[in-house]
Amino acid sequence: MGRLNGKVALITGAAGGQGAVEAELFAREGAKVVVADINEEGVAAVVDRIDQFGGEALGIVLNVTDDEAWAAAMEQIRASFGGLDIQVNNAGILSLEGIAKIERAEWDRVINVNQTSVMLGLKHGAALMREGGTGGSIINLSSTYAHVGSGAAVAYQASKAAVFIMTKTAAVEFAPDGIRVNSVAPGIIETPMTREVLAAAGPSHPDITRTPLQRAGQPHEVANAVLFLASDEASYITGAELLVDGGRTIT
Ligand SMILES: NC(=O)c1ccc[n+]([C@@H]2O[C@H](COP(=O)([O-])OP(=O)(O)OC[C@H]3O[C@@H](n4cnc5c(N)ncnc54)[C@H](O)[C@@H]3O)[C@@H](O)[C@H]2O)c1
Repeated sequence: MGRLNGKVALITGAAGGQGAVEAELFAREGAKVVVADINEEGVAAVVDRIDQFGGEALGIVLNVTDDEAWAAAMEQIRASFGGLDIQVNNAGILSLEGIAKIERAEWDRVINVNQTSVMLGLKHGAALMREGGTGGSIINLSSTYAHVGSGAAVAYQASKAAVFIMTKTAAVEFAPDGIRVNSVAPGIIETPMTREVLAAAGPSHPDITRTPLQRAGQPHEVANAVLFLASDEASYITGAELLVDGGRTIT
């Protein structure tokens, strides 16, 4: 408890899945949490849960692809909490189309939500962190799909590989301001994003059979890694990618 005492933390895609678990964990660790998502009802529910255990949270409806909405969100955070210390660029969508079938509109949609949004988040989040003058920590959600081919999911894989390298270039750019930038690459995790594919394939899903630990991960197992990178315990770690994948990428 108390690993994020006194910090203000923004989490995108925080209405469900891993983001919601991270929002609650961060609040339990003492952070004032900004719960941001396109899903208004989901945002309200997560803020309610945090209120119920005496944590502090602010809900913001934010479409991460919208530059102006990012600027407005930063204004709201400045007005409510006076600054920003931690940001988790977690919002994302899955698309399983391969190269032969994918339509241009689907490609654009995935690249916008998973990749362009991270550039916007890095830009706006770091600007507010710089105002505070005490540095910060940004964590981007990449994926094992940034590292291994699946034979499908071309836009998703391209977007996550972009997140991997944007993390490294941002880490260099922001280092003089004391802002650390890292990524977490989950393997297959049981969330609403993967519910259907996991239900259809069960334990024979290739991302499980190719995982040495032979199971899907749980959202709290990713959240714990994100928490570590967010906290001052990771004060000398920047530009790193932490794999939380049951060994999926080592075989
Ligand atoms: N679940 C997995 O197996 C897995 C594996 C590797 C990486 N990831 C990544 O982890 C992150 C979280 O995934 P998850 O499994 O929790 O997914 P999820 O679908 O359960 O949750 C994603 C959240 O993002 C929100 N979102 C979608 N589009 C948005 C937008 N334009 N603006 C704001 N919010 C938006 C959704 O409303 C939802 O609350 C994603 O970036 C995902 O790509 C997930």
